[in-house]
Amino acid sequence: MKQILITGGCGFIGRYVTEELLAQGYSVRILDSLIDQVHGDAAAATPDGVELIRADVRDKAAVTEALKGIDGVVHLAAEVGVGQSMYEIARYVGGNDLGTAVLLEAMIDLPIKRIVVASSMSVYGEGLYQTQDGTPSGSIRRRGADIKASRWDPVAQDGSALTPTRPTSRSRLTSPRSMR
Ligand SMILES: NC(=O)c1ccc[n+]([C@@H]2O[C@H](COP(=O)([O-])OP(=O)(O)OC[C@H]3O[C@@H](n4cnc5c(N)ncnc54)[C@H](O)[C@@H]3O)[C@@H](O)[C@H]2O)c1
Repeated sequence: MKQILITGGCGFIGRYVTEELLAQGYSVRILDSLIDQVHGDAAAATPDGVELIRADVRDKAAVTEALKGIDGVVHLAAEVGVGQSMYEIARYVGGNDLGTAVLLEAMIDLPIKRIVVASSMSVYGEGLYQTQDGTPSGSIRRRGADIKASRWDPVAQDGSALTPTRPTSRSRLTSPRSMR
């Protein structure tokens, strides 16, 4: 049976990925530091048969141990607060960038076939909107003045209203920017 390591496997997406992999007959091990901001004091509940290693993905020794016997990795351990990342920069770069670097370095000499790394919905910027006559509106950019005035929905260049449309598709060009 193939064994998959899921970093951040106790989080929102990790829990679904764990369920899906188990349903497909994989064996799952999770490495998760169970950060307070996500888990509080709650004990993490993992499905039967799933091994949980409580450790930080920046801890090379723990990551090396967690990778023993692993065939593939799903890397979801991350700090995910977009707004918070703008003023707790060292914390976010540490957990997300350094964490990913430690994981990749620990994998270098291992025969692991595949690693899946989660991207961010923020790469799509503001998603899809349409003008009042139904024309899709491509590149949306919020204006600082509008946000300060609590006008949340973006407007067209001529100031007319835009409305959000369907979910953003994966074929959409990226537009990675966000504004507080
Ligand atoms: N939730 C979404 O809608 C969404 C959309 C697109 C992409 N993503 C990406 O998917 C990934 C997971 O997101 P999520 O929504 O499940 O987040 P989440 O906060 O629910 O889960 C993240 C998990 O990682 C753990 N963690 C955080 N820092 C860690 C560290 N340094 N070491 C070990 N474990 C750590 C946390 O304890 C938590 O269990 C992120 O990279 C996020 O950007 C999420």
